[in-house]
Amino acid sequence: MPPFRIAPSILSANLARLGEEVVNVVDAGADIIHFDVMDNHYVPNLTFGPVVCEAIRPLTSAIIDVHLMVKPVDALIPAFAKAGANIITFHPESSEHIDRSLALIREHGCKAGLVFNPATPLHLMDHVMDKLDMVLLMSVNPGFGGQKFIPEALNKLRTARHKIDEYTAKTGKEIWLEIDGGVKVDNIAEIAAAGADTFVAGSAIYGTPDYKATIDAMRAELAK
Ligand code: DX5
Ligand code: ZN
Repeated sequence: MPPFRIAPSILSANLARLGEEVVNVVDAGADIIHFDVMDNHYVPNLTFGPVVCEAIRPLTSAIIDVHLMVKPVDALIPAFAKAGANIITFHPESSEHIDRSLALIREHGCKAGLVFNPATPLHLMDHVMDKLDMVLLMSVNPGFGGQKFIPEALNKLRTARHKIDEYTAKTGKEIWLEIDGGVKVDNIAEIAAAGADTFVAGSAIYGTPDYKATIDAMRAELAK
C-alpha cells in the first residue's frame, strides 16, 4: 500500500480559532496542513497571506502545503518560503514562466508542484518533471470549499499516475499526486484507486464534530 497522506484544508476551519484548529487536526492524525491562498484575481475569493502562515508555523511540525491561487505568483514565493512553507504549488496559467517559478520555489528550499484545474491539460508537466515534487489535480474549480467532486477527475488521475510512474521508473524521482476538491469518506477509496496518494479535504474534515473519527474513517477506506 502506498503511503497515503491526509491534508485538511484550513479554508474550512473555524478561522476565529485557527491555531487550535491546526493543532487539533494534526493531533487527529493529519499529515499535512493544506493552506489555500486566494487573491480575488486568479480566483474570485480572498484568503490568507504569508503572515498567517508565519503565525501557524510554530504550532506544528506537520508539512505546510501552500496552494497558490494567485496571479502573478513569483513575488509571493520567497515570502511563503520565509513564512515556513514546506511545499508550494501554483497553477501553470498564473505564471508567465513555469520553469522559472518552479526553480524559484526550489531555490528557496521548498518542494515544488503544479496544480491542474479540471480543464487544464496534463501535458504542461511534460518538460518540467525534473523540477516537480508534487502534482496537484483539482477535482473542483478553484476558489471555494464545499463543492462537489467532478467525476472526470478520476480519468485524469489515472493519466497523471501513469505519467508519474513512468518518470519515477526511469529516474527514481518521487513525485506526490495530490487531489483537491470534494474529497469525502465515501469517495476517497475510489480516488485512491485512480492513483492519488495525497488527499486534501476541507469541509469533509472541518465540517464534522470529531476530526479523529473522520480521519480514521478515511484511513479505514484507504486500507480496504
Ligand atoms: C478550493 C481549494 C480547496 C478546498 C477544498 O479552491 O483549493 O483546497 O478548500 O475544500 P473541500 O474539501 O471542502 O472541497
Ligand atoms: Zn487547495
